[in-house]
Amino acid sequence: VEETYIMVKPDGVQRGLVGEIISRFEKKGFKLTGLKLFQCPKELAEEHYKDLKARPFFPKLINYITSGPVVCMAWEGVGVVASARKLIGSTDPLQAEPGTIRGDLAVQTGRNVVHGSDSPENGKREIALWFKEGEICQWTPALASWFRE
Ligand code: GTP
Ligand code: MG
Repeated sequence: VEETYIMVKPDGVQRGLVGEIISRFEKKGFKLTGLKLFQCPKELAEEHYKDLKARPFFPKLINYITSGPVVCMAWEGVGVVASARKLIGSTDPLQAEPGTIRGDLAVQTGRNVVHGSDSPENGKREIALWFKEGEICQWTPALASWFRE
């Protein structure tokens, strides 16, 4: 099954947007399989964003992600990776469409409130990176047949 790693970044937690952000994925019809509030250590932030290591904003990005607790989530569903990226919107919140999380709730790339995996492979990689075994919960939503025929 396809899985994605979604994270409310420290600005989203501080601004009280956790419920709103979780709600958008719940209402869409994806299945939550992991959820925790977590203070990210620097080493984990660097590993998560290792592909951006050479970018000039990398130190600022690591400071941002470690500046307060984040909310880590694993979501599952057919097409969840690309769909979650659409729900989140463009990296730059000023370019993000209204109706998306960033388009509705943020104004700057450096404070864009939420992360979403960019491929199914990275979804698996990031869930393994942020969650321990036993923190992921498999369950059958009672309403499943009201979301998919
Ligand atoms: P994520 O879902 O967080 O991975 O965002 P993304 O996939 O839309 O963008 P990308 O992976 O390219 O960048 C990761 C994160 O680095 C962004 O979400 C921003 O928080 C941050 N970032 C990217 N570009 C810039 C930039 O030019 N300046 C600053 N300050 N931060 C940036
Ligand atoms: Mg990314």
